[in-house]
Amino acid sequence: MHSRAPVTPLGRPEPDAPPPALAARYYTDPDTAAAETRHVFARSWQLVCHESDLPQPGARLAAAVADREVLVVRTEDGGLAAHLNVCRHRGTRLVTAPEPAGKAIRCPYHGWTYRLDGSLVGAPEARQIPCLDKPALGLLPARVESFLGFVFVNLDPDAVPLAESCAGLAEAVGHYADADLVPVGRARIHDLAGAEVQEANWKVAVDNYLEGYHVPVAHPGLMRLLDYQGYTCDIDESYVLFASPLREKPSSNWAERLYQRIAAPMPGLAEADRRIWRYAVIYPNTLIDFYPDHVLAWTAVPTAVDRVAVPGAFYTRRGTGLRTRLARRLNMHIGWITNDEDAELVARVQKGLSTPGFEPGPLSRRESAVGWFADRIRADLDR
Ligand code: FES
Ligand SMILES: [Fe+2]
Repeated sequence: MHSRAPVTPLGRPEPDAPPPALAARYYTDPDTAAAETRHVFARSWQLVCHESDLPQPGARLAAAVADREVLVVRTEDGGLAAHLNVCRHRGTRLVTAPEPAGKAIRCPYHGWTYRLDGSLVGAPEARQIPCLDKPALGLLPARVESFLGFVFVNLDPDAVPLAESCAGLAEAVGHYADADLVPVGRARIHDLAGAEVQEANWKVAVDNYLEGYHVPVAHPGLMRLLDYQGYTCDIDESYVLFASPLREKPSSNWAERLYQRIAAPMPGLAEADRRIWRYAVIYPNTLIDFYPDHVLAWTAVPTAVDRVAVPGAFYTRRGTGLRTRLARRLNMHIGWITNDEDAELVARVQKGLSTPGFEPGPLSRRESAVGWFADRIRADLDR
């Protein structure tokens, strides 16, 4: 599964060429999908919710991470904790639907009770349990970190802190997002069951987000709105940040034209952010759009080798003015059109990728981030 240095048709090395795309089997092979669960999803930072989803001490929610379920709670001191959502007695799932906040986590089976930090408080009729070593029977921990106000969980105790691996990203877009953002609409990141499902391997969806090369052909609206030649892509080790300026020339489409005219920033943004759309990918599957008028955070969660759920939510700042709110509505309308175009494309890619004998061709320099992602996936699966 090693990537080879790209070569020209004459066999000469091409030093600034993007790494090769992933071989087709990465997108279609169930064994690869199973290996990803262990080597990609169980070892990386997974976006599970926003801080606003856990408003007060005792608030809790369950989120799927790799092949496990994690219980994320707001602790007494206002911090965050994450535990595997499994009772240490006989394995009952502790939290299912969203539950009211409370000082403890009580198992619905025999009533073993845990503090928010996961330690075991006690069990009913504890004297009847000869080997009840309470300190050893706390909930199994997971790592949790808040980054730009978004809550991430990692099952790997040795993982590099997210704040460390994404320090440059926080510097570049930290003024867009924090714990005080408020959600717009009903969608929530942790609502996996309510999420849109696309008919593609999760990496096809991420690949699609990682390049603007398809914009001129596949997204006529974006092409009218964005300055394609000004599209930039900064690739770091653990994230990629894209920026695309809005075009000055008025679009022929009324909604796009109105958006261009009224585009206005949320409180806290600089004038320089007013006419730029930014997108970030945090390896492997967190995707965040930073618009002047809102932030959209979503994630690509495989539900089968050829299916991906894309739960996500829209956020804004308190005190956002009417003009920015109107711009947000127009932007979301434009975004749904782009989303539908992309959903159809990724399904087409998935169909084509499963053609026996097919292998992808060379990547454009405009797809460098697709090559970056391919290298990261190959490295993870080779470990
Ligand atoms: S399984 Fe949780 S208390 Fe028995
Ligand atoms: Fe697209």
